[in-house]
Amino acid sequence: MRDHAADDNALTQPLADEAATAALGAALAPALVPGLKIFLEGDLGAGKTTLVRGLLRAAGHAGKVKSPTYTLVELYAVSGLNLYHFDFYRFDRPEEYLDAGLDEYFQGDAVCIVEWPAQAGSYLPAADLEIRLALSGDGRRATIRALGPRGLPCLRCLSAYSAAAATSSGLR
Ligand SMILES: Nc1ncnc2c1ncn2[C@@H]1O[C@H](COP(=O)(O)OP(=O)(O)OP(=O)(O)O)[C@@H](O)[C@H]1O
Ligand SMILES: [Mg+2]
Repeated sequence: MRDHAADDNALTQPLADEAATAALGAALAPALVPGLKIFLEGDLGAGKTTLVRGLLRAAGHAGKVKSPTYTLVELYAVSGLNLYHFDFYRFDRPEEYLDAGLDEYFQGDAVCIVEWPAQAGSYLPAADLEIRLALSGDGRRATIRALGPRGLPCLRCLSAYSAAAATSSGLR
């Protein structure tokens, strides 16, 4: 596979270091729209929270960005929207998603970003955008897929960022 590959619905992006992961998140900030749902896949330490931190900083959040591993969800108000950052790693069974009353968060205009979405099984509504992070040498590789109509503008935004990053690093 080429380092930089894009088709209409997917994009892969190498992320050499932590700053690159944060910058990919930052590139998503202008694409935040009401009801956007983003799933972040990848093993422990893949860089999911780092990406969300970059997004929130770029969207104007000046305070801390904590991992929601223990709290389950962290709320931010950015770009005139509520943004919920979830982490379902600690679920023992998918029904905990329903028990915790989390379905309500996904029904309105809030932006929902989820680490470990598979832990909620089939109870979660569909994602607009999926970002899969994997270890790649000392860095990471992101595979980004638009899964719904709200995801396509996000993907276009990230494709533009990816092309600019490739040009400035002299890769093409
Ligand atoms: N592209 C990258 N290259 C190298 N290290 C990175 C990269 N992106 C993030 N990291 C580092 O990986 C570590 C784990 O990052 P992070 O906490 O964001 O992972 P996570 O996917 O949220 O993990 P968890 O599943 O435990 O919540 C951090 O030390 C971060 O600096
Ligand atoms: Mg995390």
